[in-house]
This record gives sequence, structure tokens and C-alpha cells, in this order.
Amino acid sequence: MPSKPAPPGRSTAVEDYLEQILDLINTKGYARVADIAQRLGIAQASVTNMVQRLDAEGLLKYEKYRGLVLTTAGETLARNIMRRHQLLSDFLRVLGIDEEVIYHDVEGMEHHISPQTLRAIEALLSELQQHPRLIAQIKSQAHGN
Ligand code: FE2
Repeated sequence: MPSKPAPPGRSTAVEDYLEQILDLINTKGYARVADIAQRLGIAQASVTNMVQRLDAEGLLKYEKYRGLVLTTAGETLARNIMRRHQLLSDFLRVLGIDEEVIYHDVEGMEHHISPQTLRAIEALLSELQQHPRLIAQIKSQAHGN
């Protein structure tokens, strides 16, 4: 079966933008093009183009001198990606992975993981958290050689 193109608002780049925008709003109270550019390591002109595209897709409202706000649709997508980021980070942290490795891996994984796999990892994580000896055993096998 041919794979379907990603629906609008679900590309890796779109998810990275929405994730950073929501995080900026949550931590600073607002998100500006300059802040997004700095977080993503992308030129401001490129960020402006993308923000205009996200506005056209109905994911946010952008006004040049007033910054931007997420629409309900944009916020739903942003919360979803943040939730995936959080769950995958928690999972790798339990396994004793280094923080910078966690961040690097999760930034890739969060865009590709299916809801089905995410639910399985969520269930596995909650089981692991009730079995500290098993966690210790996994950690020593993973890091002990
Ligand atoms: Fe992320």
C-alpha cells in the first residue's frame, strides 16, 4: 500500500515549530520570531516564512508587530508533540540514558512514533516503574559492558 502524504501540520518541521512556540508561550508568556529562530537555530527570515505558512494553514495567528498565538488546532498539535516528547524522555531516563542523548534521540523519535507504539511504551514505562530491580538489571546490562 502506498504511504499517504503527511496531512498538513504533521511534518517534522511543523511539529518542531509548534513544540517550540508552545514551550515559549508556557515559559515566557509569548513567542516571537526571534525567539523561535534562536531555539531552532534557523534564520529569522526562514522562521517568518514558516510562521506565515502555519498561519495560512490555520495553526496560528501571526501579526508582524504583535507576535503570534496558536489557534485551537495548533495548540492541540503542539500539546500532542510535547506529550510525546515528555513520555519518550521519561522512558529513556528510566533506562539511565544520558540527558543530552535523550534530548537528541527524542527530538527524532517524537516525530515518527505511532500512537500504537507510544501506548505500548507508556504501558511498559508504568510497569518498569513498579519494578526497580528490573530497571537496575536493564541498566547494568546496557551500561555494564
Ligand atoms: Fe521535542
